[in-house]
Amino acid sequence: MGKSSKDKRDLYYRRAKEEGWRARSAFKLLQLNEQFQLFKDVKRVVDLCAAPGSWSQVLSRELYQTQKNSHDEAKIVAVDLQPMTPIDGVTTLQADITHPKTLVKIMDIFGGEPADFVCSDGAPDVTGLHDLDEYLQAQLILSALQLTTCLLKPGGTFVAKIFRGRDIDLLYAQLSYLFDKVVCAKPRSSRGTSLEAFIVCIGYKPREGWTPKLELNKSAEEFFEGANIGRSDNLKFFELPDPEERVIANFIACGDLSDVDSDATYTLDASESRVVLDPVQMPTSPPYKLALEMKRRGDLVRR
Ligand SMILES: C[S@@+](CC[C@H](N)C(=O)[O-])C[C@H]1O[C@@H](n2cnc3c(N)ncnc32)[C@H](O)[C@@H]1O
Repeated sequence: MGKSSKDKRDLYYRRAKEEGWRARSAFKLLQLNEQFQLFKDVKRVVDLCAAPGSWSQVLSRELYQTQKNSHDEAKIVAVDLQPMTPIDGVTTLQADITHPKTLVKIMDIFGGEPADFVCSDGAPDVTGLHDLDEYLQAQLILSALQLTTCLLKPGGTFVAKIFRGRDIDLLYAQLSYLFDKVVCAKPRSSRGTSLEAFIVCIGYKPREGWTPKLELNKSAEEFFEGANIGRSDNLKFFELPDPEERVIANFIACGDLSDVDSDATYTLDASESRVVLDPVQMPTSPPYKLALEMKRRGDLVRR
């Protein structure tokens, strides 16, 4: 039998605890920033799918501590389905990014001013049905993109987690209609064995004659109608018939080569001197809480 996960530990997980990040994902944003200088001249930020909040911690540290903005000068809004424990200078919204009312709430917080930077590290709950999971992830990215087109200033930057599945070419094609530059980036802290990567979209260029407007009961396809970004208007692009016409995003591996390998683990030192670190932030309202309560009440019965 191989070693259990109790005997081996992920180096980024350990480092996140040592440095006070709520999740190892913090390193992904830090390494993306090292490569692309994402936070330069950024004052208003939207962090979509933000819980437990390590990206918001990175953003808060950068905008308030490194750049020394006051809380009036800079604003960070973090949105997630899950509740989040507060972070300095971050307004948290417990909301669904696929719901148009979420846009209104974010705009209210910004007082109608556009965002300089929108990021999304969203991942739906995995069902195990591969096609369904891929579809749900694609819909989440599309929702993040819808919000972004309504919130981002021209020239602004959008970063989102993707899984490089079968239909990724279509997404690159759509994005390159809306941004000057689209790059697919893989931070060193993202496991090499995972299809996960991040699209870094620089220089938002709203389509001429198309005003993005979220409405209840409008599908993503209807929303992008008129934007001329592929599926709805431009079937030629959707079919991608000629390989020469395909939009292939540059792929960049980022993070210092001396950074640790995300697929590597280290073996726990069994000696007495080993220091066990507590999680930086205990889950605020974990999904397993209800199950534990039911178990305590004796409502969980094995049939
Ligand atoms: C990988 S976690 C994000 C980690 C975060 N970036 C951090 O650094 O702590 C993915 C998050 O996506 C959120 N999510 C999934 N679907 C969502 C939706 N429709 N609206 C808002 N959040 C969503 C989940 O609740 C989950 O917290």
